Order: sequence, then C-alpha cells, then structure tokens
Amino acid sequence: MADNKTKTSVFDFFLLSVSLVGLCFAPVPASAQGRKLSFGLNGQFKILQVADMHYANGKSTWCSDVSLIQYWFSCSDLNTIAFMSRVIAAEKPDLIVFTGDNIFGSDVKDAVKSMDAAFAPAIASKIPWVAVLGNHDQESTLSRQELMIYIVMLPNTLSQVNPPEAFHIDGFGNYNLEIHGVAESSLQEKSLLNLYFLDSGDHSSVPSIKGYDWIKTSQQLWYNQTSKRLQREYNEEPNPQQGTAPGLAYFHIPLPEFKNFDTKNATTGVRQEATGSATKNSGFFTTLVARGDVKSVFVGHDHINDFCGELKGVNLCYGGGIGYHAYGKAGWERRARVVVADLNKNGTGSWGDVKSIRTWKRLDDEHLSVIDAQVLWTNSPSRSSVSRL
Ligand SMILES: *[C@@H]1O[C@H](CO)[C@@H](O)[C@H](O)[C@H]1NC(C)=O
Ligand SMILES: *[C@@H]1O[C@H](CO)[C@@H](O)[C@H](O)[C@H]1NC(C)=O
Ligand SMILES: *[C@@H]1O[C@H](CO)[C@@H](O)[C@H](O)[C@H]1NC(C)=O
Repeated sequence: MADNKTKTSVFDFFLLSVSLVGLCFAPVPASAQGRKLSFGLNGQFKILQVADMHYANGKSTWCSDVSLIQYWFSCSDLNTIAFMSRVIAAEKPDLIVFTGDNIFGSDVKDAVKSMDAAFAPAIASKIPWVAVLGNHDQESTLSRQELMIYIVMLPNTLSQVNPPEAFHIDGFGNYNLEIHGVAESSLQEKSLLNLYFLDSGDHSSVPSIKGYDWIKTSQQLWYNQTSKRLQREYNEEPNPQQGTAPGLAYFHIPLPEFKNFDTKNATTGVRQEATGSATKNSGFFTTLVARGDVKSVFVGHDHINDFCGELKGVNLCYGGGIGYHAYGKAGWERRARVVVADLNKNGTGSWGDVKSIRTWKRLDDEHLSVIDAQVLWTNSPSRSSVSRL
C-alpha cells in the first residue's frame, strides 16, 4: 500500500515537472534506449496482439458475459491475466502489442495501479512490449497524455509518447518500430519489417460530428514521412533492397472500411457486432493503400468481431477481445492474435528480406486452441532470388 502511494506521488511530481517544461520532448524510457529489435536466428519475428483487456481493479472486478458453469464462483480480472500469461508462455513472442482499452477507465479506482497489474504479465516475461490507448483508458485518474507518459516509464516497454521529430501530431502514442535483419547477417542494420502504432483517439471533439474519434491528417503525414524515410533507408547501400519493407499498423478503433467490409471476403473469423468506427472517414485507409507498404492493420474495440480479410492489398484484422471484464459472448472464448513474419533464405543459407506474414488466434480454452491460421502476405516470387523453404 505504502509503496503504491509513494509511487503515485512520485509520479504526480514527475507529471508536474514534465508539464512545467512544456512537454516539448517526450521522455524516452531508459529500458528502451539502445534496445534494437531483430529477427531471430530462426529468421522469424513473432508479435502477440492483446486487445481490450478492460482491466479494472483485479480480484474484486467481476466478469461480463461468461458461461455460468465455468465461472460462476471465481471469475475476475485475474482470468484475463491468467490467459495472457498462458498465451505468452505458449507463443514466446518477440513483441507484445496492447491495442488499447487496456484498462476500463470508468471502473478503475487508480489508473497507475490498474496499469501496473494489467501490464504485469508482459513485464514479468521480460519480452519487449508496447501499448497504444483505446477510448476507455483515460476515464479514471489519468488523462491520455499522462497515461502514455506513465506507460513509457514501465520496464521493457518500447512505447513512446510521440515521435520526437513530430512537433504537431494529434494524440498520444504515435510511434514506429523497426525490426532489423538477423544479427550477424548482412541485413542486420536494415529494418525488414516496419511497425506503426497510432492513437485512434476516443470520441470526436468536433461538436457537429458525433461518435468515435479518427486518425488525423497530422498522424497520416507522420506515417507518410516515416514510411518514405524507411523506404529510402531500405533502398540504400549496403545491401540495397527493392521497393519497401512490409509494414503492419496497430491501433484501437477500426477504420470505417471495417464497417462495410464484406465478411464473405474475409478469409477467416467472424463478425458478430456492427463495427464501432468513426462516422467520419479521415482517409487513412486510402493513404495506406497509396503508400503501399502496410500489408495489414490490427485493431481492437469490437470485442466479438475477430475477422481478418484483405481489401485493396491491405488486410483488415480484428484482435478479438482478451478481457473478462469487457463485454464478450458467453461460450465464445476470449482470444488473442499472433502474427509471424518469416524471412527468405537464399541458396547460400543467408537470411534475406521478408518472405511471408502469417496470423492465427489463440483461444482461452483448456488447450489454448489455435484457430484461423492464414497467410496475410507473401513476397512476390519475382522479387526474391530465393529457394523456397
Ligand atoms: C469482395 O470480393 C469481390 C470479389 O473479389 C469484390 O468484387 C468485392 O469488391 C469485394 N468486396 C469487398 C467489400 O471487399
Ligand atoms: C500520403 O502519401 C500518399 C502517396 O504516397 C498520398 O496519396 C496521401 O495523400 C498522403 N497523405 C497525406 C495525409 O498527406
Ligand atoms: C545470399 O544473401 C546474401 C545476403 O543478402 C548475399 O550477400 C549473397 O550474395 C546471396 N547469395 C546468393 C547466391 O544470392
């Protein structure tokens, strides 16, 4: 208790000092400094997406929409933690991505305590992790800005408040990560997979527009700039590569394109509720299609949708909710999405660029069932001078 209290007041003091210097410079977490992400020696990089934990206060927090037989006596936030811990242990991902509504603000007594508990399995795993915010995170004791400032100080996170070079970007929690080639390989200094994280906001702040928020022009400009820089670097000496490295984008609120997406076209998964996107289409999907590097976007927000399918070369994928305090559907297991990128290996056994990107989901059942495995993207054969493995 005393410990938490100290922590909170030290944090309050920190926030005060940060606001005094005007928050021009986002703090960079010490743990993340110099921490470079690379493909493993097996030529793989694996990401676990954790969507909509909706964590509140722990053991005292009840569960929504669970089957009575299974959970009548004991279900709480701790079931969310237990499932997440089991998936982390089973998949051993290289990165864990929390796509928002990490805490269920309106039911949370203390946002710091709630976040500490919600991110604890990721921190305990020692695996690098990142988070973006949903529309519920800021509903208790911390604002969106304060939440991100706190998150970037937690152990092993590579989250950032905002990109250091962008001084006028909307939201909090817009940043990218570069996944480099295998250590000791000729591509070890190049980013072969680019991850973009964006703040999709909470609710519209424009009085004439109702509903959820959207990805603003400033964020799209930052994405465009970053994507172009990464392409230049990818094409530079030494070992110039062609085109762009594939990218993946993670945020909370689905793009309007999810709403009209014909799930007959979805290769896997289901739609069981209407998409809760913004009523305004700010054109981020069009921007992604125009740039062409992002092969898939991963969102949360709609807990009982978990489909994944391609539209104009971009996969639209839901994570499917993990949180027991979040609404769900009794008998339809809580779930989490895994993504794996595999590298090409050429005739001499050297690792090359990305060959394919695949995904599947894990269910919170006895066997952590793997479902809906699918290929999201493969490198066109003309681009890879490579033997198939
Ligand atoms: C679904 O697929 C069909 C055939 O490929 C295509 O004509 C149609 O535009 C797609 N619809 C959506 C919403 O993606
Ligand atoms: C981003 O770049 C693409 C083309 O590369 C362009 O079509 C789009 O309008 C740009 N988006 C913004 C917000 O500037
Ligand atoms: C295999 O890839 C390495 C690293 O990119 C490159 O140096 C080598 O020339 C390639 N070998 C062949 C046969 O393509």
